[in-house]
Amino acid sequence: MKPRYERPFIVRHGVTTWSKGGAFGTPSALSSFDGVAVAELVERYGSPLFVLSERKIRERVRELSSELERRLSDSTVAWSYKTNYLDAVCTIMHSEGAWAEVVSGMELEKALRLGVPGHEILFNGPGKSAADLERAFGAGARIHIDHLDELALAEHAAAKLGLEPEVGVRVNLTGLPVAAWDRFGFSLENGSALHAIHRIQRGRRLRFRALHCHIGTFILDADAYRLAARKVAEFARKLTTSEGVVLDSLDFGGGFASHNTLHQQYLPGKEVAPSLGQYVEKIATGLAEGLDGQPPPRVVLETGRALVDDAGALLSTVVGTKRLTDGRRAVILDAGVNILPTAFWYRHDVHPAQEIRGIPEPTVLLGPLCMAIDVVREMMLPPVKAGDRVVVNRVGAYNMTQWMQFIMSRPNVVLVSPHGEQAVIRHAESLETLTAQEQVPGWLRAS
Ligand SMILES: Cc1ncc(COP(=O)(O)O)c(C=O)c1O
Repeated sequence: MKPRYERPFIVRHGVTTWSKGGAFGTPSALSSFDGVAVAELVERYGSPLFVLSERKIRERVRELSSELERRLSDSTVAWSYKTNYLDAVCTIMHSEGAWAEVVSGMELEKALRLGVPGHEILFNGPGKSAADLERAFGAGARIHIDHLDELALAEHAAAKLGLEPEVGVRVNLTGLPVAAWDRFGFSLENGSALHAIHRIQRGRRLRFRALHCHIGTFILDADAYRLAARKVAEFARKLTTSEGVVLDSLDFGGGFASHNTLHQQYLPGKEVAPSLGQYVEKIATGLAEGLDGQPPPRVVLETGRALVDDAGALLSTVVGTKRLTDGRRAVILDAGVNILPTAFWYRHDVHPAQEIRGIPEPTVLLGPLCMAIDVVREMMLPPVKAGDRVVVNRVGAYNMTQWMQFIMSRPNVVLVSPHGEQAVIRHAESLETLTAQEQVPGWLRAS
């Protein structure tokens, strides 16, 4: 094949361009996903395309369950729906024994429609409506109360249904090596949580059974969990000894890091993220410290990101290339921040899907949107050309729920089974999908 001509351009190579080992961070080619050729997947299902590995999802959730079983007598994983609530993904999680953790009426309906029994649904979130609460209690789901108005609403819903449902209380903490998420739940330290619990007991309509605490997300310091578990356990122990309250579970939410790399992180995520075992070990240690010999009740984790992020990839195609005014090479992809909002958080792990020759140089990967913020990644890359495929790794969490519908429709999502079978688990949207909810009022149509 005749080599492609590119007009010569003088590029200044900075200190970040080369390291002792050669070109800094030049990505290797990644031509397949879970044993299936990228070219084949894109040809069959189009570009851009999300692909998810069933094998990786199952491996990860099994790893978490076995780490919990090794260290705790009673534990449960509740799949955090908001992370990725595609029915196929939730079905995999439930088939591995995971409960459902939901944060809205819509997610609750999704879990119920998938056949999750009410007593295996945990309902968090600060925006539950009266209708959501009635639906949850009617189905036997457990709510974690976020604020006092919700508590009053929950009592009302329970009275209306003639039920005395079991509930949990969400607490927040300070003094951890992470920013305090105090907008959710009741403060443990300033007495608000105890006040809410007393309110529940006085109301005699709800039965208080659990404490819930989600300290944040992408937490790289596993010791934050030991401190959180100790504080929550100490509080639980005091409730038992001084007030005779018996809790059936302590829920430590989600927050474990995936192997992605945050923009501000120096080392690659894979090298710095604690293992699932290390997180669980910290929780077990904190519980032992806080409970002071008492056996822990059931421990619940609502892990999201760390279970599914690494199992997804976004396959994309180069639309064209150009030089920016400052000389940097720019590559326009057919996938942007509309379907990859995590590009705002991560230095995503991006690879060409084919061998590429040439000198790597600083390259900006742009999306196809008419928005200046549509940048997928800045990285060292050898020259790619229109039609080349690019793989963005570790995109399984929060993209297929937070993606936005802006000027383009959302693409196919394909699941690859452990045996290499493939199935579309969410079909690409079309103009019909987009306009199905729209209506032109009669007075506009008349003329
Ligand atoms: C209450 C609750 N539980 C679980 C999760 C899942 O968190 P992650 O994806 O960080 O594991 C979240 C997400 O923020 C959450 O708000």
